[in-house]
Amino acid sequence: MQKILITGGTGFIGSHTVVELVSAGYECIILDSLVNSHAAVVGRIATLSGKTPLLIEGDVRDAACLDALFAAHTFSAVIHFAGLKAVGESVREPLRYYDNNVNGTTTLLAAMAKAGVKTIVFSSSATVYGEPDFSPIPESAPFRPASPYGKSKAMVESILTDLVASDSAWRVALLRYFNPVGAHSSGMMGEDPAGIPNNLMPFVCQVASGRLKTLRIFGNDYPTADGTGERDYIHVMDLAEGHLAALRYLARTDASPLMIANLGTSRGHSVLDVVNTFSRINGMPIPHQFVARRPGDVPAYWADATYAERTLGWKATRSLEDMCRDSWNWQKQNPTGDIG
Ligand code: NAD
Ligand code: UFG
Repeated sequence: MQKILITGGTGFIGSHTVVELVSAGYECIILDSLVNSHAAVVGRIATLSGKTPLLIEGDVRDAACLDALFAAHTFSAVIHFAGLKAVGESVREPLRYYDNNVNGTTTLLAAMAKAGVKTIVFSSSATVYGEPDFSPIPESAPFRPASPYGKSKAMVESILTDLVASDSAWRVALLRYFNPVGAHSSGMMGEDPAGIPNNLMPFVCQVASGRLKTLRIFGNDYPTADGTGERDYIHVMDLAEGHLAALRYLARTDASPLMIANLGTSRGHSVLDVVNTFSRINGMPIPHQFVARRPGDVPAYWADATYAERTLGWKATRSLEDMCRDSWNWQKQNPTGDIG
């Protein structure tokens, strides 16, 4: 049985990926500082997958902790989710973001190199493209990250590219996620943002549950079909399957040492599409008002995800209806979000 180290494995995307991997026969060991997640997620993973993954509470910047982990286990690969991800916070606290996301990754890579573990799947983001010239965005589009968060992802992509060029034993997948939403269909795992959510779907869910009164829609004067911003929302279980496909790809003898793929659905949905679909599928009205554009927001973008389909044999299959239903099912069963 292959053993995989999952950094950030108690977080939103990591926890869903662990369920997928364990169900596919991998053994997962989670390393997470719990800075943005709860240890109780492990119990939910166990219920859903039938196996309890080992959780090591630790930080990817802690070289001694990593050395001990690599000495104790023989890993065939690492999936590196651990990182901070709030765009606005990264503008206020750039050093914290570069330290956590960039220094955290170089510390992890040094420990991997020392242990001879040279296969890694990295969580990158569509945010590296900034405001693109057109959509759908291909992987070859220029980088224009607008925030320290986005720049930290672009930096790590460069570091990993240099690493592969320096040593052909490395196998690296850079996965650029578009807008992950949704939850496990059981309602037992989902997104659990601290404080008032910044992102659309968690905000909509909290309006539906009555925790928040009204959704503010940032701008209805964009050059889009209904004037509201468009994004490529992707179900977190599709993303989880994308990681499984990337691991299998990297294990192939004909794998390219560096594979870079957008993970999205290749289609855009507007804010009003999300609000109207959520209301229709869940029978819940979402009171909303239009307010000014949010500074820094891009009007519209979506992925060209055809490369992932060709290379990984992976394609997102879940619809916006599935995303809205599963997000609400999670929120309804965990009204305070906090499963700890
Ligand atoms: P999340 O915050 O739910 O999960 C990240 C996990 O990493 C958390 O459990 C947190 O406690 C842990 N962590 C953070 N810093 C750590 C450190 N130094 N050492 C150990 N653990 C640490 O976020 P998520 O949505 O699951 O995102 C996972 C990854 O995907 C992140 O790297 C994020 O930047 C990237 N990403 C997320 C999105 C999104 O919108 N959710 C989009 C694109 C890319
Ligand atoms: N929106 C609202 N009201 C809200 C929240 C969001 O109208 O209360 C709108 C935004 O203006 C935007 C859309 O909903 O048009 C989506 O906004 P999100 O905040 O959910 O997502 P973003 O596209 O701004 O960014 C997200 C993550 C980034 C990541 C990026 C990847 O927050 O970290 O997706 O594409 F990099």
